[in-house]
Amino acid sequence: MRTKIAIIGAGPAGLMLAHLLQREGIDAVILESRDRDYIEGRVRAGVLEQTTVNLLERLGLGGRMGREGLIHTGTKLAIDGEIFRIDIQELTGGSTVMVYGQQEVMRDLFDDAAERGIKIIFNAAEVRPREVAGSRPYVTWRENGTERRLDCDFIAGCDGFHGVSRGCIPKTVLKTFERVYPFGWLGILADVPPANHELIYANHERGFALASMRSATRSRYYIQCAVDENLADWPDERFWDEVARRLGPETAAHVVRGPSFEKSIAPLRSSVTEPMRHGKLFLAGDAAHIVPPTGAKGLNLAVADVIFLAEALTDFYQSGSASGIDHYSARALARVWKAERFSWWFTSITHRFPEMDGFARKMQVAELNYMRGSRAAQTMLAENYVGLPLQ
Ligand code: FAD
Ligand code: PHB
Repeated sequence: MRTKIAIIGAGPAGLMLAHLLQREGIDAVILESRDRDYIEGRVRAGVLEQTTVNLLERLGLGGRMGREGLIHTGTKLAIDGEIFRIDIQELTGGSTVMVYGQQEVMRDLFDDAAERGIKIIFNAAEVRPREVAGSRPYVTWRENGTERRLDCDFIAGCDGFHGVSRGCIPKTVLKTFERVYPFGWLGILADVPPANHELIYANHERGFALASMRSATRSRYYIQCAVDENLADWPDERFWDEVARRLGPETAAHVVRGPSFEKSIAPLRSSVTEPMRHGKLFLAGDAAHIVPPTGAKGLNLAVADVIFLAEALTDFYQSGSASGIDHYSARALARVWKAERFSWWFTSITHRFPEMDGFARKMQVAELNYMRGSRAAQTMLAENYVGLPLQ
């Protein structure tokens, strides 16, 4: 088999890249180790930046999102139960975010990929990028026990944090910058109406909590927990009691309890791998960087990367210029680092850290109170939250 771009991974980065290339008439094949149901079943991100919304619309994939997604013009912060609002629309000159789950985005991308004949090979085992530093890269994998090979011009490693692509960059070249946080998020999904029509990010003495949603009838709540927390120790009632306490009485009065149908713990990590290109291999999305979910940036960063990568590859095939692909890593990383900073900062002012003493907690409260009264500070949060420009 031969194609121009071999894409590894059919998550948001890989699938979005395939759509972008397909619209430009650039041939690509996706190799994915799982099946479609597994990918669509993963409960992950919930908030789309304006940039991501714009891209889905540009690709003609905004139909269901426009009908079912919830446009949010503001977000809320709480300090020990006291709430204040950040008017993100007003502070950014009109930008908003869209609450539309990653599962829904994936469903729309897969449905349309099938209609457009985008080629995806599911259940591909032992996928390996080969000869990435040479002039004739290829990818091998096993399909029903048979070894297969895909020759290509370039390989896009969109295979997430646990993928194989990043490991193909020699250790002498690869630099990783990392912060592992001493806590995780325990999240639940329940078919109950949200406590508030906007998200509430809460800093509480007992730890962080987030009230989010998927629709007017489906809520997503998170609480900060220990990384080694046992799910079995968190029956629904205990979770509801804890989240209500951390959100504070004003919000707790509106928390509608119900049985959870999903409950999981996600560890929190900041990580960036440089460079995002080695020879014929490009990394995009979680394969190259991870952010803690506090800023709602993970999926959106993956999308920004592939917008840059698709532009670079399109330029290469249309004008023969390699300058776009040569600049891809630096261009993507410049924006990635800003989102890393925002996600790290937002995590640091909202969570309880084990080493935190009275002074450190007072600093958090002071920072949030400053934010509450300062248009400049609110604008910083708002412009990052809706997504920085694609430069
Ligand atoms: P992924 O979505 O990880 O996709 C990678 C794909 O590659 C997967 O389909 C995988 O099966 C495939 N793959 C992996 N290895 C191989 C291989 N060897 N061969 C072939 N295929 C392979 N972000 C937010 O903004 N908000 C959130 O609330 C949020 N919650 C999250 C919760 C969890 C538990 C996790 C793990 C992530 C969360 N994220 C969140 C982050 C967000 O979901 C990711 O940033 C986003 O999915 C990145 O997309 P991606 O395509 O780069 O990687
Ligand atoms: C979610 O709804 O899953 C969600 C929302 C906002 C975040 C993180 C997760 O910052």
